[in-house]
Amino acid sequence: MKRTLVAANWKMHLNASQASILLHRLHERIKIHRDVEVVLAPSSLLLQPLSRQIDRRKFRLAAQNAYHKDEGAYTGEISFTMIKDLVHYAIIGHSERRLYFSENLDVVRDKVAAAVRNEITPILCVGETNHERLEGETKQVLHDQVVTALSDLTAEEVRDTVIAYEPIWAISTFGGQVANPSDAKEAIDYIRSQVADLYSRKVATDMRILYGGSVDDHSVGGYLSISGCDGVLVGGASLNYEKFAGIVDVAYRSNRSDKDEE
Ligand code: PGA
Repeated sequence: MKRTLVAANWKMHLNASQASILLHRLHERIKIHRDVEVVLAPSSLLLQPLSRQIDRRKFRLAAQNAYHKDEGAYTGEISFTMIKDLVHYAIIGHSERRLYFSENLDVVRDKVAAAVRNEITPILCVGETNHERLEGETKQVLHDQVVTALSDLTAEEVRDTVIAYEPIWAISTFGGQVANPSDAKEAIDYIRSQVADLYSRKVATDMRILYGGSVDDHSVGGYLSISGCDGVLVGGASLNYEKFAGIVDVAYRSNRSDKDEE
């Protein structure tokens, strides 16, 4: 049974005291859920202090980004090697990094490989722009992003990687149109079929694929009820502890009801 993953991408929000207060509130509100894994991705600056403050039975930390070289003369960068003791996960290839920081397919592939080399699980973000969607290019875009990003990994490493399908047009700050759960299902199924073709059916079934894009406490149930959707990546709503804790509650309940049906 795969654990449902609920990840909070705080992006470039919250200073140290604001993050500490949010974490304190989440500690009070979120219970330990055996079947739900809650991951917080603060700014890199806060990984160290928050790693001391978190209850590790409830939360894991993720980086939002790091550089693909382990060490060297790269002014201003932080490597996966430097954060490997602080995080379980790293978000890689987020559309904001692809669009604002020119991260192309090769950069994303190198970062995925660097994370894995440093025993950090990538949360690889993939997704098409609105223009690509309207041009009917979604599958081609997903294919290129998935195939390139995973190309330096073994099948076993791919199985442990997490992919987040985040259609760019559905991300709150890029327009935030609401994606239909059936659209999300089609893309998630397609991504899984690509992994099955490249590696094996078993690797594809075992790997976790998330949905992300304007997920909140009201919409999350629709996405988590998609068969094949193993969790959510949440941006805006993760900055509000009531909304984020509400999302975790829904994840817990949907997991329970799946179990009840078994
Ligand atoms: P959003 O962001 O939930 O605010 O749309 C999601 C993301 O960018 O990961």
